[in-house]
Amino acid sequence: MSSTINTMLVEKRVIHPAPEFAANARISSMDQYRQLCEEADKDPDGFWRRLAESNIEWRKPFTKVLDESRAPFYTWFEDGELNVSENCLDVHLRNGNGDKVAIIFEADDGTVEKATYRQLHARVCRIANGIRALGYGKGDRAILYMPMSIEAIAIMQACARLGLTHSVVFGGFSARSLHQRIVDVGAKLVLTADAQRRGGREIPLKAAVDEALSYEGADVVEKVVVYERTGAEIQWVEGRDIRLSEVEAGQPEECDPVAVEAEHPLFVLYTSGSTGKPKGVQHSSAGYLLWAKTTAQWVFDAKPEDVFWCTADIGWVTGHSYITYGAMAAGLTQIVFEGVPTYPNAGRFWEMIQRHRVTIFYTAPTAIRSLIKASEQNPEHHPRNYDLSSLRLLGSVGEPINPEAWMWYYENVGGSRCPIVDTWWQTETGAHILTPLPGATPLKPGSCTLPLPGIDAAVVDEAGNELPPGAGGLLVIRRPWPSMIRAVWGDEQRFRTGYYPEELGGMYMAGDNAQRDEDGYFWILGRTDDVLSVSGHRLGGTEIESALVAHELVAEAAVVGRPDATTGEAIVAFIMLKHPAAGDAEAQKIADTLRNWVASQVGPIAKPKEIRFGNNLPKTRSGKIMRRLLRLVAEGKEINQDTSTLENPDVLKQFTGVY
Ligand code: WT7
Repeated sequence: MSSTINTMLVEKRVIHPAPEFAANARISSMDQYRQLCEEADKDPDGFWRRLAESNIEWRKPFTKVLDESRAPFYTWFEDGELNVSENCLDVHLRNGNGDKVAIIFEADDGTVEKATYRQLHARVCRIANGIRALGYGKGDRAILYMPMSIEAIAIMQACARLGLTHSVVFGGFSARSLHQRIVDVGAKLVLTADAQRRGGREIPLKAAVDEALSYEGADVVEKVVVYERTGAEIQWVEGRDIRLSEVEAGQPEECDPVAVEAEHPLFVLYTSGSTGKPKGVQHSSAGYLLWAKTTAQWVFDAKPEDVFWCTADIGWVTGHSYITYGAMAAGLTQIVFEGVPTYPNAGRFWEMIQRHRVTIFYTAPTAIRSLIKASEQNPEHHPRNYDLSSLRLLGSVGEPINPEAWMWYYENVGGSRCPIVDTWWQTETGAHILTPLPGATPLKPGSCTLPLPGIDAAVVDEAGNELPPGAGGLLVIRRPWPSMIRAVWGDEQRFRTGYYPEELGGMYMAGDNAQRDEDGYFWILGRTDDVLSVSGHRLGGTEIESALVAHELVAEAAVVGRPDATTGEAIVAFIMLKHPAAGDAEAQKIADTLRNWVASQVGPIAKPKEIRFGNNLPKTRSGKIMRRLLRLVAEGKEINQDTSTLENPDVLKQFTGVY
């Protein structure tokens, strides 16, 4: 879905790494960057072999690097064996870093709890032993529906230790969405909490699990493990439900990591695509871990003394790759935050950076934009009022960052001292793909700059021909890379057509439009499909449409995104009711009902910001809804585009009321 970004292309500033930063960086010059690129170009197998041998501890060494014989189902390091949790925990104990703080957890109410690598290792082992005692292990799937917590990370790691494939569902998704994922992935085990605390409020989780399990097909689930976070009153199903404290009780603090094959699915993470049904992105163990760890080290320039803070939720891939796996494999001390950036006030992030002496801060443009707005409204919470001198590196992820927000972040948070790594990647890529290396890459605000060494990214036309600088086209990755998506869970065809369309002759199609400039820098222009990015969360327009038309009042619905100054895109729904509303008040009432309906079907994050009603939707003569035109209506733009294919051009005039 196209967006907002054209203003970015006029930005001309270039910001070079400070010599002091570069001098101490892991990759400290463009020469070094180019050398790595060259090494990877000349001998990809040798490059990835070297990294995999030095960055992973193997239980059984691999002999073959990449197998292309079943392309596009590539495999990496296939005959090797390892355990991901061993690589995230045990290695640090063996290297004498057991007493280093792994996690500084700050709760919504400000309570702080710390866990060293040794303590975390013990906790993970106890949980893993407990899960094993319940009868689950390699070959099974577990769903997590958990708040941000040490427990959630420990459970993910415990799954990895046992070879149990996990699938984390973001706590902001509804019981219906949870149900859909439970059934699709075939989970025998669900791990959840009684409730979560965010922004001073208590939001039930267990109740949503109970509801999800009451729907058809959810009887695959045998056990529900409940972490008692808030002490909220919950319903209890004897024989099915069990407390996390009981699962752990009496279990030994050692648990032998289960060696799994390199390609063993570490996790499945659902994400929105261009059809109504979310797709289960399946990731490997070795290739995924390799790139999550290596990029954590290169892109965040990770040093032993760093305090790293990635503000993402573990329900998204950023939380997987840079909280649970990347940061831990790299042996970092990291902050894990339960709450929201605006509670108790909009200075929360800055106050936490100050309190914990954070050195690397990684967040989303939407958070930055909302905090810019908040600090304008209330200067008390402007970052200048906090001591942010500990910071040395900033990061951005999830959507394009507009140059204004970039400069504000750079000056006010980073004190014009910290490089910003604008990291482009996706659930499917597993880890960073296009990004600056902070000690090497000259930065252009609004551009995610250049591909990492080993990554062969390009902008091509619809036939796969590479485009010249300045021309917009499809963002592709021409060669496979270790952390790439392995499959869409249970849907081979969807993997092929969605990511490896025949016209592109074997290139991975990201689903983004992009262009390169004269220096080869990449500028992301937005999605090519109907995927929306709202507050950095990826949502399927079709998914929301399906939810809307499932409501008894709705005949047809079309959902589009329009640019929004804070959330990136805002959801606008065009709706044809079965019986038109009898006036403004009724229309408003129906709009509210439909919003709550979408919240219950997909999740509160998917609620349309605006609803517009009409007696019909703009369609082509062959009956396709013309979302392109609805987008213009949503943006309040004049329709001077060609409407000749439109069956009834007047149809666009009716969507005046906004609810
Ligand atoms: C889509 C992937 C990557 C983890 C979080 C999102 C957009 C992501 C950037 C960026 C411009 C970006 C793309 C991409 N996106 N990072 N730095 N600049 N756009 O993962 O939910 O799988 O979404 O987010 O459109 O395709 P995701």
